[in-house]
Amino acid sequence: MADLTEGTGERVPTVVVDGVDIVYRVNGTGAGRGSATAALHRVLRRGKAGKASGVRRVHAVRGVSFVAHRGEAIGLIGTNGSGKSTLLKAIAGLLPVERGRVYTDGQPSLLGVNAALMNDLTGERNVHLGGLAMGMSRAQIKERYQEIVDFSGINEKGDFITLPMRTYSSGMAARLRFSIAAAKDHDVLLVDEALATGDRSFQKRSERRIRELRARAGTVFLVSHSNKSIRDTCERVLWLERGELRMDGPAEDVLKEYERFTGGPDRKAPRAKPAAGPDSTAQPDSAPSPAC
Ligand SMILES: Nc1ncnc2c1ncn2[C@@H]1O[C@H](COP(=O)(O)OP(=O)(O)O)[C@@H](O)[C@H]1O
Ligand SMILES: [Mg+2]
Repeated sequence: MADLTEGTGERVPTVVVDGVDIVYRVNGTGAGRGSATAALHRVLRRGKAGKASGVRRVHAVRGVSFVAHRGEAIGLIGTNGSGKSTLLKAIAGLLPVERGRVYTDGQPSLLGVNAALMNDLTGERNVHLGGLAMGMSRAQIKERYQEIVDFSGINEKGDFITLPMRTYSSGMAARLRFSIAAAKDHDVLLVDEALATGDRSFQKRSERRIRELRARAGTVFLVSHSNKSIRDTCERVLWLERGELRMDGPAEDVLKEYERFTGGPDRKAPRAKPAAGPDSTAQPDSAPSPAC
C-alpha cells in the first residue's frame, strides 16, 4: 500500500475547494428573446439599456468548501441540477469560479460522457490521440492498447474499434472514453456518471479500476446515479443540493440522509419546489439524465 502521508503522518491534500461560487450567464433568455429579431434589437440597443440585455444568471454552486486527500474516493450526490457536474468542471479547471478558490495538486482529469474524442476518427485512432492528450508516450499507448480495447468491451460484438466513433452507440462511446482515461494513473480523477453507461459487467470492471486507481494513491471523485456504485466505491460522500454543500461525511451516513430526502435507495427525488427566482437551480430528479 502506498504511503498516503508522505512520511509526515498527515494526510496529503490534493484538492482544496474554498468558498466557491459558480455562476453561468445565459444569453437570450426570456419570452421572445431567442428570436433573430429580438437579438438584432438587443444589438441595436446595446449601451443604451443595459438592463434589457436578456442575460440570465444561473447560480449553480454556492459557497462550497472541502478538502480532498490522497487516497480518498469521494462520491458526489444530489438531485439533478444540484451542481455536481459544474463543481467537477471547476475542479478540472474548465470553468471559472465567481468567488472563492480551487487549489489542486497536479492536473485533474475529468472523465465523463462529454470528454472530447473525435467522432470522425476510428476508435483505434481515438485511443492513441486520447492517450497522447493525457501525456502518455506512444510506446506506453502501444503497450496498453489491447488492454484498453478489451476493457471497453467495444470489440465484443465485432471489429468496431476500426470503425469511426460516429457509428458507436452513446454507451459504447462512453465506455471507450472511460477505458482510455482509466488506462493512466491520475493524481486526481473526476468521473461524471460514466459508470451509468454499459452493462453490469462493464460497471463492475470500472468500479474495480477506480478502486485500483485509489489504491495507487490518487484521489477519485465519482458522480453516479447509482447509490450502490457510490457505496461500493467511496468511503466519503459530499451531498450537494441547489448548489449548496448539504452534507460531507462517511458514505453510509450521508447516503442514509440522502435516501431519506429522496424517499428511498433508488433515488427517487421529491418533486422540486417551484423555481424561487431566476437563480433557482433545482430540477426534479427522475430518470438518469444523459447530460452531465
Ligand atoms: N452550460 C450551462 N449554462 C447555463 N446553466 C447551466 C449550464 N450547465 C448547467 N447549468 C445549470 O446549473 C445548474 C447545475 O447544473 P449541473 O452542474 O449540471 O447539475 P448536476 O450535474 O448536479 O445535475 C442547473 O440549474 C443547470 O441548469
Ligand atoms: Mg450532471
